[in-house]
Amino acid sequence: MTKRILVLPGDGIGPEIVAEAVKVLDKLAGEGLDIEMDEGLVGGAAYDAVGTPLPEATLDMAREADGILLGAVGGHKWESLDIAVRPEKGLLGLRAELGLFSNLRPAVLAPQLADASSLKPEIVSGLDIMIVRELTGGIYFGQPRGIRTLENGERQGFNTLVYAEHEIERIVRSACDIAMKRGKKLCSVDKANVLECTELWREVATRVVEQEYPEIELSHMYVDNAAMQLVKWPKQFDVMVTTNMFGDILSDCAAMLTGSIGMLGSASLNEKGQGMYEPIHGSAPDIAGQGIANPLATILSVAMMLRYSLDQPAMADRIEGAVNKVLDDGLRTPDIMSDGMTEVNCEAMGDAVVAAL
Ligand code: IPM
Ligand code: MG
Repeated sequence: MTKRILVLPGDGIGPEIVAEAVKVLDKLAGEGLDIEMDEGLVGGAAYDAVGTPLPEATLDMAREADGILLGAVGGHKWESLDIAVRPEKGLLGLRAELGLFSNLRPAVLAPQLADASSLKPEIVSGLDIMIVRELTGGIYFGQPRGIRTLENGERQGFNTLVYAEHEIERIVRSACDIAMKRGKKLCSVDKANVLECTELWREVATRVVEQEYPEIELSHMYVDNAAMQLVKWPKQFDVMVTTNMFGDILSDCAAMLTGSIGMLGSASLNEKGQGMYEPIHGSAPDIAGQGIANPLATILSVAMMLRYSLDQPAMADRIEGAVNKVLDDGLRTPDIMSDGMTEVNCEAMGDAVVAAL
């Protein structure tokens, strides 16, 4: 059956990196991968075109898609807009509307790039962590929220951290399913010493693992300590599971351990296995339009799409193998450039991956 892929280039470097990832999909389509690709507007690009960061047409196509490939959203240009129509709302709206609650953010060190990390090679060599971030709940979506004026005339900003038990259960299960295919070690990150909401998180995580995944070795860590441990001794972690906001922060930290945020893809999945795939890095407005962005994170996101939503694990392996080959061949975009390597631009990197495929 033909699989539908919705391509959402978005803002900043989004269109450049997505174009290279689409070349990879085209190449596989030429070899029999049965897909149909549509393109849609999201983020600032959508706001500029039709006045909203998440047009109904995009949402309709997204609902029909088996996989969504997203570049990035946001940029200085839209920073002064009302929060309700900022580019980020396009992304958050897609997550919420499609129920993409499980966000997988791998932090894997490509051995060829060990020198790119700001940490000592012995700390990061062989690093392979999977952060599972809850993506449709918590303080990002909790009500009430807003900025109100108090009786004394002072303004007060407020947001709400909420998790219902079923939201905790399903994300912990999602993390456990992944841990079962890896090292069977799960670290649940919370702030249970201060926040009741995450006290419940800890309790539910413990129950789910004890009752449903007895083989998994579960540990708990406060988020401040987790941030420290990620930098101190990251290889102690296999799979980490945490709330929306803690996951936002820790996944950036984990990504930087690999030295190259331009190398990491991500998957956001719902209960039906539908998924949105995007690089972990943002829209990088400072280098947008120069053709020098690193397309590998987006290309590796395509590999995740093949694995998690299109049921094509062999093709996913091939993409990862091709990326490995171009790194072995010494090709580097500026963000991962080092002595003795060959600097290439975004397009040349994409072409090299296609050739290696
Ligand atoms: C991310 C980003 C988003 C988030 C922004 C762009 C809304 O930082 O995907 O990590 O906070 O979730
Ligand atoms: Mg983030």
